[in-house]
Order: sequence, then C-alpha cells, then structure tokens
Amino acid sequence: MTLRRTTLICLACCQISAAAMAANTPAEEKAEMDRFVTELMSRMTLEEKLGQLNQQPSDEIATGPVVNSNASKLAAEGKLSSIFNIMDVEKIHALQKIAVEKSRLGIPILFGMDVIHGYHTIFPLPLGLSCTWDMEAVRQAAHIAAVEAAANGVAWTFSPMVDIALDSRWGRQAEGAGEDPYLGSLVAEAMVRGYQGDLFNPDGTEAGIMACVKHFALYGAAEAGLDYNTVDMSHLRMYNQYFPPYKAAVEAGAGSVMSSFNIVDGIPATANRWLLTEVLREQWGFKGMVVTDYASIHEMTSHGLGSLKDNAARALLAGTDMDMCANGFIGTLKQSLDEGKVAMEDIDRACRRVLETKYRLRLFKDPYRFGSKKEAASVTYCKEHRETARRITAESFVLLKNGTDGHPVLPLEMKGTIALIGPMIDTRTDITGSWSMPQDATKYSTLREGFKRALADKAQLLCTQGCNLTDNPKTQQAVAKGHNCEPIPFVDSRQAMMEAVEIARKADVVICAMGECAWMNGEGTSRSRLEMYPPQRRLLEALRQTGKPIVLLNFAGRGTVLTWESENVDAIMNVWYGSECADALCDVLFGKVSPSGRLTVSMPRSTGQEPLYYNRLPTGRPVPDGTKDYRVWSPNYLDAVQGPLYPFGYGLTYSTFSYSDIQLSSRTMNADGSITASIVVKNTGGREATEVVQLYIHDIAASISRPVKELKDFRRITLKAGESRNVEFHITADKLKFYNYNLDYVLESGEFDIMIGPNSRDVKKTSITVE
Ligand code: BGC
Repeated sequence: MTLRRTTLICLACCQISAAAMAANTPAEEKAEMDRFVTELMSRMTLEEKLGQLNQQPSDEIATGPVVNSNASKLAAEGKLSSIFNIMDVEKIHALQKIAVEKSRLGIPILFGMDVIHGYHTIFPLPLGLSCTWDMEAVRQAAHIAAVEAAANGVAWTFSPMVDIALDSRWGRQAEGAGEDPYLGSLVAEAMVRGYQGDLFNPDGTEAGIMACVKHFALYGAAEAGLDYNTVDMSHLRMYNQYFPPYKAAVEAGAGSVMSSFNIVDGIPATANRWLLTEVLREQWGFKGMVVTDYASIHEMTSHGLGSLKDNAARALLAGTDMDMCANGFIGTLKQSLDEGKVAMEDIDRACRRVLETKYRLRLFKDPYRFGSKKEAASVTYCKEHRETARRITAESFVLLKNGTDGHPVLPLEMKGTIALIGPMIDTRTDITGSWSMPQDATKYSTLREGFKRALADKAQLLCTQGCNLTDNPKTQQAVAKGHNCEPIPFVDSRQAMMEAVEIARKADVVICAMGECAWMNGEGTSRSRLEMYPPQRRLLEALRQTGKPIVLLNFAGRGTVLTWESENVDAIMNVWYGSECADALCDVLFGKVSPSGRLTVSMPRSTGQEPLYYNRLPTGRPVPDGTKDYRVWSPNYLDAVQGPLYPFGYGLTYSTFSYSDIQLSSRTMNADGSITASIVVKNTGGREATEVVQLYIHDIAASISRPVKELKDFRRITLKAGESRNVEFHITADKLKFYNYNLDYVLESGEFDIMIGPNSRDVKKTSITVE
C-alpha cells in the first residue's frame, strides 16, 4: 500500500518548488530528499552555502569562551545554520521566524542544546545513569529529556557522550558511561534510541530530538586525565577498547557526530580525514552530519597547525560539515576556494549533509514543529517525569559500604534524631550536578527539604553545613558563578565544625552529604587528588570522634578515593545528583527501595593508581589485585595495596546473594556454535533486592595480548528473600571476537576463561575451548 503524505511546503517564500511527498519506501524517500536538496542548492549562492555550515552559541548560557549576540542579523542574512543553548521556545520561534521569513531562501535554523542528563527534570549524571545497568532506565531518561527539550523548542542535543574514560582525574568521566566498551556501547545505543525515538521516521509521532555522538574520538584518553590534553594511542586499542561505543551509537541511528578537541595520530580530530571519513563513514556507514566541538577549528592553531584559514580548509576536507563557533568556515572558506585549497564540491558535500539533516528533521515542512508554550507547560517537569526520575535516581546510587562484621547501618529507621551535615545539604543549584544548564533550580528540593518532608513528625532532623567544600574561598565562590550555580556559602570553618559536632552529639545517626558540588566535575575539571577535599575530611574526622554512626553520601562525577573513609565511616553511598535526588535518597536511606547501582568505574585506593581499570592487558609478571606485600621486580606500587578499593561492577544492597559454581552446556564449541553458561543465584538475605549478575571472558592464548577480563553480558535480576534463579548466558562467537593485529575482526580458536559474579573481582571461573 502506498501512503500519501502531505505536500512538502516550501518555506522559502515559495521560491523553492513544492515537492509532493508520495514516497514511502526508504529508497523513494531518499530520492525525494535528494531532489529537494539538489533543487534548493541550485538556488544557493556560495555565501548561503557557507552560512549553512555555520553554527553559533547563544549569548544566554556560556559553555565556552565564545559568545554571539548577532544571531538575528546572521539569521536574516541566511548565515546562521544552527544556534545552541537558547532557553525559551518563544525566543527560539522568534529567531526561526527571522530565518524563515527574512532570509532570501528561508532555510530554517537547527536549534541545539547541551541536554546532557535532562532538561528541567534532571536525571543522575550519565556516569550515574550507567551505574543502573538498566538500559530501559537509560533509554527512558534520554526520552524524557528529549520530550521536555523538544517541547521547549530544541531539535538537537549534544549527547550522548560515549568517550571511554579510564582515568578518574578527568572531570568529564562524569558525562560518559565509565570504563567499559561493552556496557558503554549498550548505554550509547539506549541513549540514542531514547533521544531520537522515531524522529527520523516520516510517519513518526513520538517526540524526539536528534542525538549527537561525542566526542569523536578518544577524548577520554587525555594524558594524565588532564582535559584537552594530548592523546596517543595504538589503532589496536582504538578498535578494541575506545571505538565500540561510538560505533554502537552510529549503528543505533544517531543523526550527528561531534568531533573531539584532541589529536588522533598527531592530527586534531577536527581535521582528521582518516577518522571522520574513513572510519566513520566508509567503515561504519555513517550518513549524518559532523559538527566540530566548540571553536575547535580555531584551536587547531594552538595545536600548532597554522592559520584559521588553513585549518578550516583541512577540517572541511576531512569530513566536517558544521563549524561550531570558530567562524572558520564562514570566514575563510571562500578565500580557500579562490585559492584552490578546497573545491566547490567539498563545500557542496557539507552543505548537502546539513540540509539533508534539516530535511530529515522535517524542518522544511514545519520549522516550528519543535515546541510551543502550551506543550512546554504541559510536559516540562511534569509529575510523571519527576516520578520516573525519582525511581531512576534511586536506582543509580551505589552502596559501597554498609556497616562492619555483618552489622548493617542502612536502611535507617525513621525515628529518634538524625543529623544531616555537609556542604551539599542546602544547595538547590548543585543538586543536579554538572551539565544541567537548562535546569530550573527553583523547582527542586534541597536535601534538607527532602529529608524534612520524608521524616515529618517521625524523627527529629538537625542540619548544618559543617564545612567548606575546599579551603580556597575563591574557587568556592567564583567558579560556581561561572557555572550558573549559586555558590555554596564559604563559612568560618572552626565555627562550622563546632556546630556540626554539637549536632552530631545529639543525634542517633549522622548523614554527611559531601564530595563534589556541580562545578567540581564536568568539562575542564581535572583533579590531581581524588581524595576527599581537606575541609570535608577534617569534618569527617571530627564527627568520627563523637562515636556516632556515620553515613557518608559521596557526591561525585568520577571515581574518587575513599580509602580513609572506608576504614573510618560506617556506611558509604555514591550519589550522582539529579533534580529528584533528595526524595530518591530518602527512598533508599529509609529502606523503601533497596540500592541496586553498580560501579562503572574502578575506584582507586590512591590517585597515583590512575588510570585504573579492570579490563587492562596482562603484564608478563602478574600481581593479583588485593596483594598487600610489595613484590620485587613486579608491576606493583611500593606504597599501595594492588588494585582498586571498589572494583568495576561493585555495589551492595540491603540483602545478600550467593552464587553456585558455573554449569556449562558443553566445554567446546565451534565458530558457529554456542555454549550456555548458567549459574544459580540465591537471595540469602532477609529482603527483596536486585542483583546484577555479570559475565566476563578472558582469551587465554591469542595472537595478541587480550584483557585480563572483559564484560560480555549481564542480567539485572530482582529476587525475593530466599528466592533462587538459574541465570543463563549464551556464549557465541560475537562474545569472543576481537580486532587482531591487522585490525580484522576475528574469532580465534583456543581456550577462554568464563567468569560470572557480582562484580569484576569476585567471580566464579571455568573455561571453554573454541575448536
Ligand atoms: C564541549 C561539548 C559541548 C559544546 C557545546 C564544548 O566545550 O566539549 O561537549 O557540547 O561545548 O556546549
């Protein structure tokens, strides 16, 4: 049956002929799009084409050093293809009106925004979302973000960030899914699906916005965890460890890709033809649009690659379609064309991809299709979204310690006197974490408010800030402002500590809300020490002297060092922010919900261990994790117990689980075969809880050195007290394949370790042979 759709109306004051959309097969749709874009381009001047390659930031929210207050003028001149981070749908539509009605061809603007973990309903940081190990939750979070953003006029988000981040010193670990390529790929796919829904389906009705996979590529591998720093990596490592999440996002249909700031093989990603054309388009089949990161064409000069003009030409030739903020394309490509450094077809290619993107987003059909005041009012921060966010936020918390010697501290009872202490207790702007610029903090509860509401008249709540975030008042005040956060007050530290100790003495239990506030992770927030900031540690030491049980809520956007805390406080839970954080925390702390988050980054014992990750390559002199005594001539530190304090995949709950030995359906398989590995997991505790059963594989003898362990599958299961379940994993060739020395994706015969357990450390082990 042929579906006839509405006529594609030319917005460009009817200068572009109307195209009847009678197509319904993908091939017909593509042909129709090609006709439309070709016809439009035949009318475009060089300046108008370059205008389509130009993206500018708004002057509302700064996410980098460039601002633009020229948007209306550029829009009227047809020189503004895209703009990002405008907050109000009416402002967005007003600017769109200028582009559509005043510019010669009326080509609509593509409105983008950094909607990273929510619009007004803010979910945990992406790192925290990944700790749910719940792909439906990840999809839902992205979908809700998209619904709210779309209702507010946004068509395009610069998310997901899928950079593998092995080094917790890098503050942008917060924005990704942690250290694992397999989990990272699943998260990438879930986020793309969540954002886009059926956006690119011409008959689609579901709200969605275009995803942008970033930062392509290897941005998370900056040396020393220093943001924007050099990256140097073997192709083997790229293909096996760093590329999979980008590829998964592309395969999930992401409409756009953002190149990264860093160099790849000596050439900035922004102008790296191998990366942007050979890998992305030729090997992976990406058909969408590539945008640079913030002014990165301009930054190529600082990388040591010459003038803006030369670098703009290089970026275009490499496969970049849109220039974010550098004014390199709009400012210099005409000259490069005159000088023969780029050809008209290079400009046309990029222009076509941008126009195709706008076409596929149906902006030519209706440039105002994203958002309205009415829609915004009905969905933004609505009850349903808040409830989902509360549930997912609770799912993301990772319980790292709960009492000692089988005497749990959590869950707490709602009775007696509870002290809530720490710099995070009264902040409304920081509760959502970094990269939550679209937030409306006036709507959120502080921790104090949330706890008060939950405890009502059941228990007495005593609160005080207790300490500063850092000892440096300048950092605490000024940086916060730069990040659109209200600074957390800089208090007299002696006085604050005395008050905290006094309150703690009166309480039955002390809850400390500490760690990183919003601006302490995210872009440009590398840390050289991952330990608790000194004033916060001093407060913990003082509170410990009271002898009261201490529950530490560690707010973080990365792996942090909790070695002292693990020995000196009674319970530790990692918290990854969110607009509903206060309520979600009460749900978990007071036992309505059992914690179920599992770490997606290894937490080190000391900063010097970084980069620390579980899926490392073996050395020739293996030293097992947990080894305390120093061994000579071995890859171990003189001054640290080996391995992480809390391993990848780790997390406790309010119950306990036992694991049987692994049963195999067979010990051998051939290339087309499969083996079922099963294990019986039993809830041995007193209440229903969720366990994440994890499958790891190690190739014992391969043609190249392979990681000591690699996550290949997992099941998130909820068991009642006493309940057992037989959990099955199907091992097929795709779980055993890797890129070999020639970068061929192969299955090699031989023996493989099969490991199953609750985290990457505590596994049961057996082996299989591939014949
Ligand atoms: C960041 C990107 C972000 C862009 C636009 C850059 O500084 O690296 O992740 O999307 O700014 O705000």
